[in-house]
Amino acid sequence: MPITWSPDTRELRLANDRVAYVMRVHDDSALGHLYFGAPLPSGRPLEHVESAGFSGFSNRVGEPVALEYPTTGSGDYRIPALTVEHADGSTVLDLSYAHHKIVPGKPAWDGTGLPTTYVETDDEAETVIVTLRDKLSGMAVELAYTIFAGRPVVARSARIRNDGTTSVRLTGAMSASLDLADARWQFVQLSGAWARENHVVSTPLRPGRQSVGSDRGSSSHIHNPFLALQRATTTEDQGEAYGLSLVYSGNFIAEAEVDPYDTTRVRVGISPNTFTWTLEPGGAFVTPEAVLVYSASGLGTMSDALHGLYRDRLARGTWRDKPRPVLINNWEATYFGFDETKLVDIATSARDLGVELFVLDDGWFGRRDSDDTSLGDWFVDRRKLPNGLDGLARKVEALGIRFGLWIEPEMISERSRLFEEHPDWAIGIPGRPRTESRQQYVLDMSRPEIVDHLFGVLSDVLASAPISYIKWDFNRTITEPYSTALPPDRQGEFFHRFVLGTYDLYARLTAAFPDVLFESCAGGGGRFDPGMLAFAPQAWTSDDTDAVERLKIQWGTSMAYPLSSMAAHVAAVPNHQTGRITPIDTRAAVAFFGVFGYELDPTELADADRASVRAQIAFYKEHRVVFQRGRFIRLRSPFEAGERTAWMAIDPASERAIVGYFQVLNRPVPTADRLRLCGLDPARTYRVTGWPDVADPLFRDNTGEWGGDELMELGLSLTAERHEAAHWGDFRAWLFVLEKI
Ligand code: DGJ
Repeated sequence: MPITWSPDTRELRLANDRVAYVMRVHDDSALGHLYFGAPLPSGRPLEHVESAGFSGFSNRVGEPVALEYPTTGSGDYRIPALTVEHADGSTVLDLSYAHHKIVPGKPAWDGTGLPTTYVETDDEAETVIVTLRDKLSGMAVELAYTIFAGRPVVARSARIRNDGTTSVRLTGAMSASLDLADARWQFVQLSGAWARENHVVSTPLRPGRQSVGSDRGSSSHIHNPFLALQRATTTEDQGEAYGLSLVYSGNFIAEAEVDPYDTTRVRVGISPNTFTWTLEPGGAFVTPEAVLVYSASGLGTMSDALHGLYRDRLARGTWRDKPRPVLINNWEATYFGFDETKLVDIATSARDLGVELFVLDDGWFGRRDSDDTSLGDWFVDRRKLPNGLDGLARKVEALGIRFGLWIEPEMISERSRLFEEHPDWAIGIPGRPRTESRQQYVLDMSRPEIVDHLFGVLSDVLASAPISYIKWDFNRTITEPYSTALPPDRQGEFFHRFVLGTYDLYARLTAAFPDVLFESCAGGGGRFDPGMLAFAPQAWTSDDTDAVERLKIQWGTSMAYPLSSMAAHVAAVPNHQTGRITPIDTRAAVAFFGVFGYELDPTELADADRASVRAQIAFYKEHRVVFQRGRFIRLRSPFEAGERTAWMAIDPASERAIVGYFQVLNRPVPTADRLRLCGLDPARTYRVTGWPDVADPLFRDNTGEWGGDELMELGLSLTAERHEAAHWGDFRAWLFVLEKI
């Protein structure tokens, strides 16, 4: 049994063959945290690690006792998991263990509307729900912990109940809190900006608090709801690492605190900066889920665990396991300036090259000739599309490919019919000006009637034509947060209710149109988070399509997210975000590692480029299972190695692998360099071939038949004779295809 309770030692132990997680009900009834790490096969009790919980002023205040769900006010000054305001204004909670229940599988909390990981059969996991109680107020906290068979993962959430007789206001409710015995960790965050998402930033922990988060209304481009802790010596394939990932799309915090005793507390959850929630007697609040991973074998194992869980047990629906189509999107080809003829030309030309899905992006509705109008008016612009969406979609389908469409449901333009009819639907504070961003406002998704309206109009759109795919965008963050539908003392609930409204719309639309492939987007990766992945199995990784920039963005994104979730496209050059000119095969070689597509006008391609695109699509289709569902292994970081990045993907059956090696700037006189591969079968022989230019010296020297052992221990040679290397130029990519013989 993966979860055991020992009445003698009062230990609760979650264990599988990958990890162990141990808690203990201390002598004073506090729920203490003893351990999260590698398996502990001896099964010996750990009570000597910690025997008593916090006992406030009768003990020494501020001692670092490890707790599962710490509160404030009794001498624990570290970052808390739960903070409240009682009806009398006091803020102390004293949580004691009451009871626990071990159940097979992974039961869901009722009616929360929150996305979570799941199991398909009860033997995939086991869950324990531990109930803690504050005697004086009647507050109860139910902590749920799920351990999955074969995964180094514990998923956590909390339900906070007011079983008392007066109302209580939550002022902070974390999804997970984790106490670690020392502070020798690096804080690894995924941070950046629009078009620069998910750069890996690593800093040593220091005394005090370090955090990332968002108070913008969405998880944001700035920081991803993810945090890893790694030892200074941890690499991709060695050393300890923890990963904490939050299944949530709104304001969040991921924070670590090193206390005076050099222990570390980590917490993840809804950002307490912008959150309060009033619980009347009998009321309950459920936190989003946090996914905790432990790896003793580097960041690669941590990512691998998240990839598998998110690809197979967070994503849902028809498209979870299906090969994703190669698409072309007209955004960078036309922006707002298109008509039906132009779109059909693009689709026809792309179809001839092997594209399987044509996506009509922004600009098809209302009178949207620029970004300052029409959001909310979800009816087709007949000036551009005289035959409607249906007419266009049928023409695209007649080409033998599918049709997809862009929408941005949560938004409203001031210049729109919707705004004329419902100016109060846009988020804002009565009497104060609203701040525009990209000439648009945000709809108050916390109001059910607005969600109902959107479900109605968007269902009509989806039913009006053969639409196989939806790109769901979200192009600005929230300002003047306020809902006219909430009373003054509940305005702190606005941001979370906004997210719940968005999830409700996603749940209803994906249920009503189960065969449609949904891709989430927020000006690129501004809402690339596990919450969205539960509804849309893929996301537009970044508006930055430059191949060099994408090395960092895709590397960083892969820390937490699987290849099947990362949309990556080849765009025209000079690149629209950087002005950089890279070879078309380099752009493809980077974009292959994910859900592949194009973001250009194929009718404008030179013949040579058309031939390249045709070959690229054929190559991608041949290896689609490797690129979309393969195990992704990071080999050489663009953040550390500078000019040379390398990664690889191994197909689920371990028969094939593709190694991507990318060189940003060429240097004269190549130095000796070998790229050691990972994850191969050392006892098997692999046939190695190259792409795109088989005549390249790197392929001449490396193609052939090699042992898995050689490829992993000696590696591929990355050196060429200097006169040959002089021809490489900048921005080159080499793909090595390995097939097991
Ligand atoms: C931002 C997206 O990331 C782009 O791909 C495109 O869809 C534009 N929005 C359209 O407004």
